[in-house]
Amino acid sequence: MEAILQQPWPDDLTRVPHRRDVPFAKLTTLGVGGLCRWLFEPTDESQAQAFIRACAREGLPYRILGMGSNLVILDDIEMPVLRLRFPAELKREGLSLSAPASFGHIRMSQAAAEAGLSGLEYAAGIPGSVGGALRMNAGAYGAELIDVLATFRFLTPEGELIEKRPEPGEFHYRWSFFADSPSLALGMTVKLVEGDRERIKAQVAVNMEKRGTSQPLSKRNAGCIFKNPPGASAGRLIDQAGLKGLRVGDAEVSPEHGNFLVNMGHASAAEFAELMDTVRAKVKEAHGVELEPEVEIWRNLKPPAASLQPPA
Ligand code: EPU
Repeated sequence: MEAILQQPWPDDLTRVPHRRDVPFAKLTTLGVGGLCRWLFEPTDESQAQAFIRACAREGLPYRILGMGSNLVILDDIEMPVLRLRFPAELKREGLSLSAPASFGHIRMSQAAAEAGLSGLEYAAGIPGSVGGALRMNAGAYGAELIDVLATFRFLTPEGELIEKRPEPGEFHYRWSFFADSPSLALGMTVKLVEGDRERIKAQVAVNMEKRGTSQPLSKRNAGCIFKNPPGASAGRLIDQAGLKGLRVGDAEVSPEHGNFLVNMGHASAAEFAELMDTVRAKVKEAHGVELEPEVEIWRNLKPPAASLQPPA
């Protein structure tokens, strides 16, 4: 068996504010999963940089958590998890609005509307943080973040701080280079246009409302669980396979939208995993289609045996 190093984590890592054994129920919108053994919560960019540099130097893998709205956790997670807790401050300069990565994307959209600035209406109804929105070039209703993105700040995997304008190739449909690289988004500035405050606010309200009518947003959920297969709707396939209302413990296929698997109370990770597996198997049986997860799934994430191990 490979020897496991039992050195303690370095001081520059443990000096970053952190909490131990935080239930993922408190860190994700779905509320499923075990414990986050090590949750690092930098409150400014230099603490975030210290975390990244220490992990890079030690070869220690980690995960980045935003608002946990597109995430299904199926275990306790032993790896360090990084969640920014920067002050929730927006800065306005003329038509530009800047937000830290930990700021809510919907909140930013609402603040822009309040300020009579147009361009972020699409974001109303898309949960998650500004960092998450950057990571996936969030969009809806024919608009997307890259349409208004002026500059963004991030830390490279080595901990170098970069602020730049977006360049061709960095952002595509629901994808950005962040998706393929462990760079950490720190914040962004969007350039908006002046508009009629009441009209922008009304559009934001309409976009919020649209989701609420077809999706079970009053239940704990992680958005759509499966990707839409080419030319089809995962929700409709699940619906047509007669799976709405199917339940394993407190995990349920929403009767409102088949592609939402919701937590009706205290669904365990095992119940949720079983429901996902059953839905995939039954859709395969009924339609011959293999559904792929759309959400990010974390399971069994431990530091590899060759890297530093968490102190007991
Ligand atoms: N439908 C059913 N039964 C269902 C669910 C849907 O018959 O249980 C039918 C609907 O009637 C509609 C079609 O399937 O004719 C498509 O449904 P919907 O309009 O709800 O859109 P979707 O393809 O299921 C996508 C995104 C959602 C996004 C909505 C609206 C994916 C996987 N899903 O859903 O995104 O909110 O469009 O823009 O791309 C997410 O990303 O987490 C998410 C939920």
